[in-house]
Amino acid sequence: MYVCHCNVVTDRDILESIANGARCVADVARDTGAGRTCGNCISSLRELVCQHCPVRAERRAETAAEPELGVAGAAR
Ligand code: FES
Repeated sequence: MYVCHCNVVTDRDILESIANGARCVADVARDTGAGRTCGNCISSLRELVCQHCPVRAERRAETAAEPELGVAGAAR
């Protein structure tokens, strides 16, 4: 599926960029050219990076675990 129509960049191109080390929208834009013309695709780029970036997934997991730690800490 095309994500950036201006620069003919697909979701596969973006996922490949993330797999190759892109960690933010700017990294993906530099790597693929997406988002560098009209900017209408930036929210889609951001969504893909948030969903697939391993660093962000790690942070989400840590954030999800924090309330559990808080409850355990309160019980002491
Ligand atoms: S749709 Fe991506 S820059 Fe225009």
